[in-house]
Amino acid sequence: MKPVLFLLLLIVIMTSSPAGARPEYAEKTRQGCKTCHETEDGGKLLDMGLTYSASGYVWPPQGGYRVIIPIGKRLRSIIGFLHIFAGFMWFGTILHVHIVLRPAYAVKGLPRTEVAIGVVSMLTVGATGLAMTISKIRGFDLLTNSDWGIVLSVKIGLYLTMISLAAVAVLFVGPKLRAPKREAVAPEDGVFDPKTLANFDGVDGRPAYVAYKGSVYDLSSSARWRKGLHFRHPAGKELTGAMSGAPHGEDKLEEFWRVGEYDETREPPRTPAQKLFYLIAYTNLGLVFAVLLTIAYWRWGM
Ligand code: HEC
Repeated sequence: MKPVLFLLLLIVIMTSSPAGARPEYAEKTRQGCKTCHETEDGGKLLDMGLTYSASGYVWPPQGGYRVIIPIGKRLRSIIGFLHIFAGFMWFGTILHVHIVLRPAYAVKGLPRTEVAIGVVSMLTVGATGLAMTISKIRGFDLLTNSDWGIVLSVKIGLYLTMISLAAVAVLFVGPKLRAPKREAVAPEDGVFDPKTLANFDGVDGRPAYVAYKGSVYDLSSSARWRKGLHFRHPAGKELTGAMSGAPHGEDKLEEFWRVGEYDETREPPRTPAQKLFYLIAYTNLGLVFAVLLTIAYWRWGM
């Protein structure tokens, strides 16, 4: 839970805006209240006030921001809250999945609840982010011609990258993790693990292999192993113990190809889907930190 608490703290710090400031803006900018407000006591914000806010409280406002669609302060706060809350849920889910679920995660397929939370929060972040952007900027050229806009562009770029990776993970990789194809693929180094051997079950045209005393034999050519079943012994298994009950000895196996070794302690190699999944997962983790750094820079570095 520690990383989640840490993230919560980070978000609380980041959202405690340079607010409360209010009249401090006058001090910071050496401007009178009426530069930005309609009245001396800080009434309705004038265009200059909105521009100042939109430029990230830099004076003079860089690039002369103007709002495209003004959004009232209260609605803005709600949207801003949703944006941060959804971001928190999204990143919290990623960290949870990486730190808590990691080992079991890729093998069984993507956990549904986490995917649902992730997708909803990603879309919320996008929608609220878009609303806040168009409520602040004059035009989209702003995204390239000012520091403020460039940092925003970086953030949007990171967002889009994460969304695309998530789409690949959920739509293409997830289903493959959940229902791996049953394919008999021999290990490159000839050493079989239990799961790999299990695919050589003699069913549906797959070869019938069995393991015996550390070796793997191909029994596909034997009429007695047709359909992968030899009396009550299935192919794709380690059958050393079963030999004692057999009417024949182990010399029977010498008639067949020895195709490899058997190591029951070995883990199966990762499938391409699993490899891709790990790649996406760790890239995503890196992107989470990249986004947090961007936000921190946006808040304090400019
Ligand atoms: C450079 C522009 C600027 C100047 C100058 C300025 N303000 Fe503000 N003020 C803002 C902005 C922008 C906000 C909106 C809140 C925010 O973005 O943090 C604000 C908000 C406020 C608020 C809070 C309003 C609310 O609804 O919460 C008060 C009160 C306020 N200003 C008073 C003043 C007073 C009094 C002065 C003069 C001494 C002053 N401001 C000078 C830009 C300015």
